[in-house]
Amino acid sequence: MEWNIVARNIWFKYSGSEYVLRNTNITIDPGSITVIVGPTGSGKTTLLLILSGLLKSSKGAVYYNGRLLQEILPDIRKHIGVLFQDPNDQLFNSTVYDEIAYSLRTLGLSEDDVRSRVFLVSRLLGIEHLLGKRPYSLSMGEKKKVALASIIVYDPDILFLDEPLANLDYSNSRLLEKIIFDFKKSRKNIVVTTHSIEFALRIGDKIYGIVDGEVRGPYSPLEFIEKGLETLNASIPLVFEVCGRMGLKPTDIIKMIRNS
Ligand SMILES: Nc1ncnc2c1ncn2[C@@H]1O[C@H](COP(=O)(O)OP(=O)(O)OP(=O)(O)O)[C@@H](O)[C@H]1O
Ligand SMILES: [Mg+2]
Repeated sequence: MEWNIVARNIWFKYSGSEYVLRNTNITIDPGSITVIVGPTGSGKTTLLLILSGLLKSSKGAVYYNGRLLQEILPDIRKHIGVLFQDPNDQLFNSTVYDEIAYSLRTLGLSEDDVRSRVFLVSRLLGIEHLLGKRPYSLSMGEKKKVALASIIVYDPDILFLDEPLANLDYSNSRLLEKIIFDFKKSRKNIVVTTHSIEFALRIGDKIYGIVDGEVRGPYSPLEFIEKGLETLNASIPLVFEVCGRMGLKPTDIIKMIRNS
């Protein structure tokens, strides 16, 4: 199933705080990677939690296919996967196997089906050797992969990935990018938060910048280099500076980093 997700005029404050999101408007299309990029504390996680229905906005609303998210939430929860920034917030079963199997069991799959899907996803992520371990004993990068496995195992249509590269090494980062591109090919809605401008430019079809709870955009990767960076007060990534000195245009550099 395809989803059109729209957040309109979202304002949010935690109890006792100032507004940490102000007048935010975002659209998320199927078959497209939407990136929310901004510095530490700018409101990325808060926005992701609101878009996925885990937090309710103070003002404004989120609509999935024209319907109010908060009204349809129990029915559509199984279509949504959220990868938390801190995998410790996500893992609570006593073994990695049970962690990955958990959602399938709640959906009522037979143990045979559960086993084959758990092994399939574990192979994809290269974590078969962890299946018998306790999640809390894993490294942060391993926890992140297990948390991701526990989501993709039930094949949700909509993915919210909060700083997915955190704690992953180079080859795991590439594996994760490949998985994100496979999601895109299957017409899923993918929302990724990151503080990395290069990562945003590598994978984003649509990029929103966020600073102090104010969202700017959407920008295409090229528009983001031309207009988005200054709204973030960010300097140009090194690759643009170096390749620019060699005479390459931003469009060529973007093509190069997106194909590499
Ligand atoms: N539970 C909470 N109670 C009160 N304030 C909070 C809470 N969670 C976050 N905040 C505040 O809201 C603002 C936005 O936080 P948020 O975690 O959304 O930012 P972020 O962009 O995801 O940061 P990071 O890059 O560090 O992950 C920050 O000023 C933060 O201190
Ligand atoms: Mg965050």
